[in-house]
Amino acid sequence: MISQKLSEARVYEIKKEAEIEIENRPVFHLTPRVGWLNDPNGFSFYDGLYHLFYQYNPYRPFWGPMHWGHSTTSDMIKWEQLPCVLAPDEEYDKKGCFSGSAIEADGKHVLVYTGVTRIKLPDGSEQERQNQCIAFGDGLNYVKHENNPVVTGDMLPENCSRIDFRDPKIWKEDDTYYLIVGSKDLNNVGQVVLCSSKNLTDWQFETILAANSTGKIGTMWECPDFFGLEDKHVLICSPQSMKADKYEFHNGHNSVYFLGDYDKENHVFIKEEPHTLDYGMDFYAPQTTLLPDGRRVMIAWMKSWDACVVPDSQDWQGMMTLPRELEIKDGRIWQKPVKEIENYRANKCHYTDKKIDCYTTFDGIKGRTLDMTVELSGEEYHDFTVEMACDDEYSTAFTYNRVAGVLEIDRTCCGVTKDVVCVRKIKIADTDRKLKLRFIMDRQSIELFINDGQQVATTAICTPLQADGISFNCDGSAVVLSLIHISEPTRLGMISY
Ligand code: FRU
Repeated sequence: MISQKLSEARVYEIKKEAEIEIENRPVFHLTPRVGWLNDPNGFSFYDGLYHLFYQYNPYRPFWGPMHWGHSTTSDMIKWEQLPCVLAPDEEYDKKGCFSGSAIEADGKHVLVYTGVTRIKLPDGSEQERQNQCIAFGDGLNYVKHENNPVVTGDMLPENCSRIDFRDPKIWKEDDTYYLIVGSKDLNNVGQVVLCSSKNLTDWQFETILAANSTGKIGTMWECPDFFGLEDKHVLICSPQSMKADKYEFHNGHNSVYFLGDYDKENHVFIKEEPHTLDYGMDFYAPQTTLLPDGRRVMIAWMKSWDACVVPDSQDWQGMMTLPRELEIKDGRIWQKPVKEIENYRANKCHYTDKKIDCYTTFDGIKGRTLDMTVELSGEEYHDFTVEMACDDEYSTAFTYNRVAGVLEIDRTCCGVTKDVVCVRKIKIADTDRKLKLRFIMDRQSIELFINDGQQVATTAICTPLQADGISFNCDGSAVVLSLIHISEPTRLGMISY
């Protein structure tokens, strides 16, 4: 039996989705059926498919009562929309089913999420409480556990917040389940806590696994993730309200990672310095999963809390990034688009050794859904610019200042009608090699993979689709060693059930 709230949401999303023009939706990035989407949740492989849930308010294209939307895919490129699975319909989650994760256990698909509620304090005032809850399902329908919440703030040491305690990420090691949960202490110091359970329903607090020991890494740590990658352990989290440090951490609410060493027996994680995960303007709350073939893949919300280029009139809001494969090289995480995207390539167009010393366009190089790689060399120039989604009125520009080794993204003229951040500068990590820029554009987003994924920058735009030009410009003479452009991948569209 599903609750009335969930059933209403399911009826509503189907009806409203049918009214939305699909033309402005991305082709291979996940969007909500209707309304609002934020964090990816429950990214997992279950019963032969990848499942991705998401923070979802079906009723308005703005954040609101949090449900869990649901989608599946067999290749992380072509998505299918399924009925939403969780609604805020119990006393313990009446203020929202916040972010969480998923795991398979005894053939069941288990969702772990944060139930947000309000309690009455002795003085009669109300206060929020965030606790961890579970639901068991079959890949389509999920039943909340009768003894929810299964992890509460009361299990934590006294100086941990009971209000900010959310976003559980679950995994299993030998015969024990573990959860890390985002938290902060009563002095606003961000941290992640570790809990364990033998049976998924009885949990105990283990330790504070990591904390903002330098005080420089924001306040509350949202959406933690923790996993082994090659010979290291990685902690990812999204600290709120973090100050920028030179060219790093420019998003206010940032997503960072720490590499480190994990002593599994004693639950001690020795972490190194934090690093930026994505240098663009629209990236938050990433979550990873381990694929059956051993790849560790990360997906994130392609938006930031503070900057939104989407016009208020649009009936839906929020997209996921492309899933990205992670690896460690030279002490850093490198990211590349999942290899499955290569199966959709069409209309290949290839130029080599082209000298660019003024405004230049190339036959066949245009469009709004494409995978384009530009490899640059030469030292006789200062600035080299690629403009995308452009015509006389619109443009999003990527300018490489070779002398400073800085790449600037400028979306001021992408069509945005709000005063949001539009320029971002990225210090290129390796200027000794030829600069390689791989742009993946899907109508209203551009993900830029720099130097084979050593750095990545994700940017949302809001440009009418007819602005499909791509141009190159240089104030001296640069050589485009190779320009490979693959446009209009086979029309994918999203399928709904
Ligand atoms: C991160 C976040 C999470 C929370 C969710 C609510 O973007 O604030 O911490 O669970 O969004 O929608």
